[in-house]
Amino acid sequence: MFTKGDPAAAAHAQAICGDCHSTDYPTTQPKLNCATWANEIIKMGNTFRANIPWTEDGITKAELYDILAYLNTNYGAGDTCSATALDPLNLPVPLP
Ligand code: HEC
Repeated sequence: MFTKGDPAAAAHAQAICGDCHSTDYPTTQPKLNCATWANEIIKMGNTFRANIPWTEDGITKAELYDILAYLNTNYGAGDTCSATALDPLNLPVPLP
């Protein structure tokens, strides 16, 4: 469960990241930096969804950035984070 930080942001991350597995996966990681969290989000969207882009579910890059910012703030290593970390999304279909 995402229990830390802003409850609305936690609930949003819970809804999207709890779809396939327990959110204990992200919450029990060591404190990852922004780029590593971004890579995790990208990997979840590409590898584990068998190249079904996040957009298939209508999930936008802005939403993924909200989740990245939530993870980086509450489960991060303390570095600054911006949406450009998600630029190498490298998805089969680019996010809007
Ligand atoms: C489409 C299904 C799916 C979604 C949605 C998903 N994941 Fe995963 N995730 C997986 C699979 C599959 C694994 C690997 C499970 C295993 O090894 O047993 C995994 C593993 C992980 C791990 C463990 C480390 C690793 O890289 O294997 C983390 C951290 C993680 N996910 C975070 C997230 C976050 C954060 C989100 C939301 C942005 C998310 N997941 C959404 C399928 C998904």
